[in-house]
Amino acid sequence: MSQRIFITATNTNVGKTYTTIQLLEAFTKMGLRVGVYKPIETGVNGLPADGSLLLKHAQVLNPQLKALRINDIVSLSCSLPAAPYVANKGKKIDLNLFDHALEKIESLCDIVLIEGAGGLMVPLDEELMMIDLAHHFKATTLLVTHCKLGCINDTLLSINALKQENLPYLWAFNCRSGDESFTQTSLPYFKTHFNSLYLIGRDNTALAQALLAKIRQENIQESVCVI
Ligand code: GTP
Ligand code: MG
Repeated sequence: MSQRIFITATNTNVGKTYTTIQLLEAFTKMGLRVGVYKPIETGVNGLPADGSLLLKHAQVLNPQLKALRINDIVSLSCSLPAAPYVANKGKKIDLNLFDHALEKIESLCDIVLIEGAGGLMVPLDEELMMIDLAHHFKATTLLVTHCKLGCINDTLLSINALKQENLPYLWAFNCRSGDESFTQTSLPYFKTHFNSLYLIGRDNTALAQALLAKIRQENIQESVCVI
């Protein structure tokens, strides 16, 4: 079973790419050959910005990825900066395309970090939402959340969506400068209601270890089901 992490967020611009790059480094330090995949990128004029950034970082950490080009990393790019459903004019998404792309990337790495677009409830076509990709890829999801006022609501909504879909997941805060009020306004709630809190930047290694443990646990559960 491959090791796949699907990176999503409570919304666009919360820090999926930023987090992915940090985790690439954490997994590399743990001795894993990393890979990246960004199935859909919108707002592309020229080269896909996220895909290029991810590929550049991943190639430094795993030189085997130098065999790949940007089109191997981003399967579908659209110029309009909008939900794929709108940017791709409602056309049906071909999941086979994504599967083949992932297969190629996975032949060169031990773990692949897949960056979604926007958040979980972003429509891709008439049938699919972004959350369906986490299912389809059989990936462990990492939800990245923000630290601004409103983060409790946003985090819980996304966690509820993941729980409803029975998806394996972890979540982490991506706090930024300007989020100083977080410790007074939102952190007390999280500290009381959750056992482990991960902060991108501070807890990258612990988060990477927890994600690996989660993936392995899921794989064990799957094989138990098969038996
Ligand atoms: P989309 O893929 O467009 O939905 O956004 P995203 O969720 O991938 O967000 P991204 O990681 O691109 O972050 C948005 C912007 O904020 C980028 O310019 C990042 O460099 C910047 N950024 C994100 N997180 C941090 C952070 O913790 N610190 C700093 N200094 N900049 C950050
Ligand atoms: Mg991004």
